[in-house]
Amino acid sequence: MNLIFFGRPGAGKGTQARRVQEHYGIPQISTGDILREAMAAGTPVGRQARTYYERGDLVPDEVMLHVIEERLTAPDAQEGFVLDGFPRTVPQAEALEALLRRLGRRIDAVLYFDVPHDVLIRRLSGRWICRAAGHIYHEVSNPPRVRGRCDVDGSELYQRPDDQSETVARRLRVYDEQTAPVLEYYRSLGLLHRIDGALGAGEVFRQIQAVLEPLREKR
Ligand code: AP5
Ligand code: MG
Repeated sequence: MNLIFFGRPGAGKGTQARRVQEHYGIPQISTGDILREAMAAGTPVGRQARTYYERGDLVPDEVMLHVIEERLTAPDAQEGFVLDGFPRTVPQAEALEALLRRLGRRIDAVLYFDVPHDVLIRRLSGRWICRAAGHIYHEVSNPPRVRGRCDVDGSELYQRPDDQSETVARRLRVYDEQTAPVLEYYRSLGLLHRIDGALGAGEVFRQIQAVLEPLREKR
């Protein structure tokens, strides 16, 4: 299954993509995680991305297309993938379409996690991320067993610099201006499924399964 998880910052894309990865064995491909790793390692992509990322702006399409082509052609992505955070502009969606066509593949479904604004703000202000592997926590809805430490690998938890309130406001504005049109793009292709992303994480996952099970049977 070739899937796209779509939604505003804080909608739960990363949380659910990880669950799908574990449950269905298809890799989560988070462009945000790839950029955070590239910045930490100081690679050319990381250096190109940093100022945009820290402001809460989108990294230029050329950079992202290079990143995504490299990732989608890796061996572990050949049986399916969950794209988390890509595409985020209509040109990215069109370029993805062209790339997949070249590879003889296609998108099976786009899941849109719909979450109201006030819930997004609460989620982002309480989010903690593990340094080693990006495992996602929330101080209220999903706290770690030991404060400040990842349950899975024991590494330190940190708050993303782009989760400060001013940068969050900018990310949400950028979504409305540049990313929201991508929804119409996939709606017109008949690929869009709306998920009520404001419910608890378990209930959200059940809605995802309800979309994915029929797709699996069809394949
Ligand atoms: P990215 O890392 O993709 O950030 P984002 O899209 O803003 O989304 P988030 O990761 O903030 O939210 P999420 O939906 O994954 O929510 P999560 O599961 O963590 O991108 C960061 C930056 O990189 C961009 O600003 C841009 O600069 C650059 N970038 C990335 N991709 C790009 C692209 N394609 N083009 C250009 N630039 C790009 O959940 C949030 C919190 O809520 C957590 O604390 C979690 O525990 C909690 N939570 C989740 N689900 C629930 C639930 N159901 N109930 C209660 N709490 C929940
Ligand atoms: Mg994420």
